[in-house]
Amino acid sequence: MSGNEEAFARARAVIPGGVSSPVRAFGAVGGAPRFVTRAEGPYVYDVDDRQYVDLVGSWGPALLGHARPEVVEAVRVAATKGLSFGAPTVAEVELAELVRDRVPLAERVRFVSTGTEACMTAVRLARGATGRDVIVKFAGCYHGHSDALLAAAGSGVATAGLPGSAGVPAAAAAQTLVVPYNDPDALREVFAARGDEMAAVITEPAAANMGVVPPEPGFNLLLRELTRDSGALLIYDEVLTGFRVSRSGWWGLEQGQVAPDLFTFGKVVGGGMPLAALGGRADLMDLLAPVGPVYQAGTLSGNPLATAAGIATLRLADQGVYERVDAAAQTLGTHVSAALAAAGVPHRLQRAGSLFSVFWGTDGPVRDYATAQRQRTEAYTAFFHAMLDAGVALPPSAYEAWFVSATHDADVLDRVVEALPAAAAAAARVLA
Ligand SMILES: Cc1ncc(COP(=O)(O)O)c(C=O)c1O
Repeated sequence: MSGNEEAFARARAVIPGGVSSPVRAFGAVGGAPRFVTRAEGPYVYDVDDRQYVDLVGSWGPALLGHARPEVVEAVRVAATKGLSFGAPTVAEVELAELVRDRVPLAERVRFVSTGTEACMTAVRLARGATGRDVIVKFAGCYHGHSDALLAAAGSGVATAGLPGSAGVPAAAAAQTLVVPYNDPDALREVFAARGDEMAAVITEPAAANMGVVPPEPGFNLLLRELTRDSGALLIYDEVLTGFRVSRSGWWGLEQGQVAPDLFTFGKVVGGGMPLAALGGRADLMDLLAPVGPVYQAGTLSGNPLATAAGIATLRLADQGVYERVDAAAQTLGTHVSAALAAAGVPHRLQRAGSLFSVFWGTDGPVRDYATAQRQRTEAYTAFFHAMLDAGVALPPSAYEAWFVSATHDADVLDRVVEALPAAAAAAARVLA
């Protein structure tokens, strides 16, 4: 038994499925997950001290690479001053200012601990602000695991083959309308039927939890138009894209063409620590307690260690970092596509800024969750394990984006590229 198998058996005896978050369990690809002991730059190491080139990046936060010394030092210094105060800090103000500098529409920022909390709070705020209950979300978009937002979600849920989740009250799910992504007609229809009941539309402005599915031209603008006309709010969930695909997230890549009312952020903004945020128009944000009637709170919200990691990360994430990450994603995607083509694997590689993913056994455009599900994930399973055996850790599901960091330089990428032909051949054998 390998160290990972031993650890997995031990974990399953005390933790459901052996993991603290479902997709980590390798359910979609089989086998024992790698139990990580440490990570540095572009690498993670498992309990057997095997090194892997990491293309998971903690599912997004590791923009600068793992354990960037300046970030670790900022957290260390913060830790020497106390781990949690339950009182405001000037560091929180500084982080909020850094967020607002990058996304000026985030006139006010409230810190929470997870993306789930940020999205849940955005929904409550939208309901409080509009006096309406209905929320619209898109099939295949993921906004965390709160009741209202766990209908037809992507990634983890799609991978487990479940339509939603047990334990979500029918009454809560009934207030959420699920619409296909990139479908202007369906959107117009739902607005015509229920527009006056809608509190908000929440969207991933570039979807990356059903594989990477960028918005078609004009789709986000249409969302803005319809929400504005019906008095509903528009929430841009940038938990994944925020401060990753550009210094101002997807909103920045769109050059501010669309003006959402609220944003949610997570992952990069906490630099790998548990921190997320909600931001938006001052008049809306000031409806949050203690100023307004919409309640939200958190013992560990704005935690000083997490805040220190966030500040250090955003300060270091300069134009050079985004250029390196963009270039690494471009190079890697090109090599992956070429290797799959050479092995005769039909596939579709889609990009949204520096995020990309591959759809397997299909080569037509993937524009929504239904088309994403036409892929043949068994090809990915073979590819994934061949890469893992060669020392490259990919996300353990075909429905996830691949994450690179500023430390994925040419030498690191060469290691990935060397492993591609054998993995592509393994995928081809499955599809033959
Ligand atoms: C777009 C999006 N929103 C929300 C979340 C939930 O964030 P968290 O896992 O921090 O609760 C995620 C997590 O992957 C996400 O990708």
